[in-house]
Amino acid sequence: MEIEIRNIYKSFGKVHANIGISLTIHAGEILGVLGENGAGKTTLMKILAGLQPCDSGEILIDGKPVHFHSANTALDLGIGMLSQDPLDFPMLTIFDNLYLGRRKRFFIQRNRFSKQVEKMEDLLGFQFKLNDLVETLSIGERQQLEILRLLVYGSELIILDEPTTGISAQQKKQLFELLKRLAGFGKTIIFVTHKLGEINELCQRTIILRQGKLISDVVLPCESSLLIQSMFGKAIDLQSPGDASQFEKHFEIQHLVIKDARFFSNPVDLNIRKGEILGLAGMEGSGQKTFLRTLAGLEKPINGMFLDEGYSLHWNSPHSFTKRGIYFMPASRMEEGLIQGMTLQEHFILSQTKDDFFVDRDESHKITEMRIREFTIRGFSSSTAEELSGGNQQRLLIAMLHENARLLLLENPTRGLDIESTNWMWKKLHERCKKGASILFASADIDELLRFSNRILVFFGGRISEPYPSQMLNSEKLGALIGGEGW
Ligand SMILES: Nc1ncnc2c1ncn2[C@@H]1O[C@H](COP(=O)(O)OP(=O)(O)O)[C@@H](O)[C@H]1O
Ligand SMILES: [Mg+2]
Repeated sequence: MEIEIRNIYKSFGKVHANIGISLTIHAGEILGVLGENGAGKTTLMKILAGLQPCDSGEILIDGKPVHFHSANTALDLGIGMLSQDPLDFPMLTIFDNLYLGRRKRFFIQRNRFSKQVEKMEDLLGFQFKLNDLVETLSIGERQQLEILRLLVYGSELIILDEPTTGISAQQKKQLFELLKRLAGFGKTIIFVTHKLGEINELCQRTIILRQGKLISDVVLPCESSLLIQSMFGKAIDLQSPGDASQFEKHFEIQHLVIKDARFFSNPVDLNIRKGEILGLAGMEGSGQKTFLRTLAGLEKPINGMFLDEGYSLHWNSPHSFTKRGIYFMPASRMEEGLIQGMTLQEHFILSQTKDDFFVDRDESHKITEMRIREFTIRGFSSSTAEELSGGNQQRLLIAMLHENARLLLLENPTRGLDIESTNWMWKKLHERCKKGASILFASADIDELLRFSNRILVFFGGRISEPYPSQMLNSEKLGALIGGEGW
C-alpha cells in the first residue's frame, strides 16, 4: 500500500497547524515524524487517520484519491492510529474492548472473533488474558492492546503518536522490536515523536515538521545535530547537574513506609535540601507515584514522619501540606490535572488559593494573558484545556503551580515535551530552586534523570533505594538498577 499526501492545509482559528504538507509513504517502511511540540504532527496524523478533516489537500492510496469521514472509514481502507492518550474503556474486559470496536458489517460471532484475536496474538507474541479488565493493564500493555485491535481490524498502516511517553525502557524495547517485526510482515509504520534518539534507533527515514511546515525529509541514520537544526531552526545546548550536599536542610523524611496497591515499601530516611532536585527512577508503577502522593499529603503512609524545617506534617489534614507550599503535579494531565471544558482563564482562577471568593474577570484575564506569554503556551485565555496540544497542557500545569511553592512533587513533568520545551521547563524549575524550592520528580527517561537530578532514588519491586548522587551513576548503571540488578 502506498500512501500519498498532497498539499494538506489545516487551521484552528488563528493557528496554522499544517501548511501545505506533501509526502509519500511506502509499504513496509518505518517513517519517523519528528518535530517540537505544537509543530503540527498530531494534526497531520489525525487527518491521515480520518479523525479530523483537513481544510484542503488530498490523500491518495495506491494512486486513488480517498475521502475519510471517520476513523472507521480510514480503518476500512487500512489506516489505523494509536492515539496519544489511549481511548479505551478501562472498566471493560480486554475481550469486550476489542470486540466493541468491531464494525457492524462484520457481525462476527464472539467465539470466531476470539479465535481471530488469538491468532493475531500468537503472531505478535502477546499473551493477554482476555477476561481481565483493561484497567489492570499498564500503559505499555494498553498500547499493545491497541496495536492488536488495529491489526485484527485489518490495518496496513499503523500510526503511533508519541507512543514511548510513559512507558519503561524495557517496554520501549519491546515496542520497537514489535514495530520492526510488523514492518517485516509488510505493514507500514508511522512513528511520531520529538525524541531524536528514538528516530535514529527505529526509523529508516524521517520527516521533520516545524511550525506547521514540512522542513525536511531525511534518510537515517543522521547526525543528531542536523536533526536538531531542522527541528528548531537553530542549535540547542544541554546542561548538567551539580552537588547539592552542602545546601541547607529543608524537609526530612524519617522511617517512611509507603503503601502502594501491591506492596509496603522499606522504611525510607531522607533529607531534602533547599534548592535540591531529587529524581525518582523506576519502571512505571514501582511506587514513585505513591511516594510523591504521600509526600503531598494525598495518601497516608503506613508509618513514618515528614518534617518541614522541624514541623511535623499530619496526614489527617492534606490541606496543611498545600498551606506549607507543598504541591503535587500529576502525570495524567486530562484525568487528574486539568478540567475538560474549562478555559485557561478558568484554570488560573481555580488555581489561585486566595480566600477571596469573588472573581475579578478583568484581573484574571490579565493574569492569564501574562502567564500564557511567560510560559509560551500556544493557546488563548478562552481556549479550553483539551484544545491545547499535550505539551501545551503540560506548560499550563506548570504555569498553574503556585509561586510560593517550597516543595514541588512532579510526576513525569516533561512527559511528551520535546528537547526545547524540556530545557525550557527545567529552566523554569531551576528558577524555582534558586528561590529555595526543592523538587522531587519521577521520570521514565534515564537521560533526563541523570541530567537534572542532584540525587536519584531508585524504585524496584516494592523497594526504595538510598539516594545516589547522580555523578555516581551513568545510564548503564541506572538502567540496571531500574531493572532490579545491582541492589
Ligand atoms: N482541536 C484544536 N483546537 C485548537 N487548536 C488546536 C487543536 N489541535 C491542535 N491545535 C493547535 O495546532 C498546533 C499544532 O498542534 P499539534 O498538531 O497537536 O502539534 P504536535 O502534535 O506537533 O505537538 C498547536 O498550536 C495546537 O495548539
Ligand atoms: Mg502531538
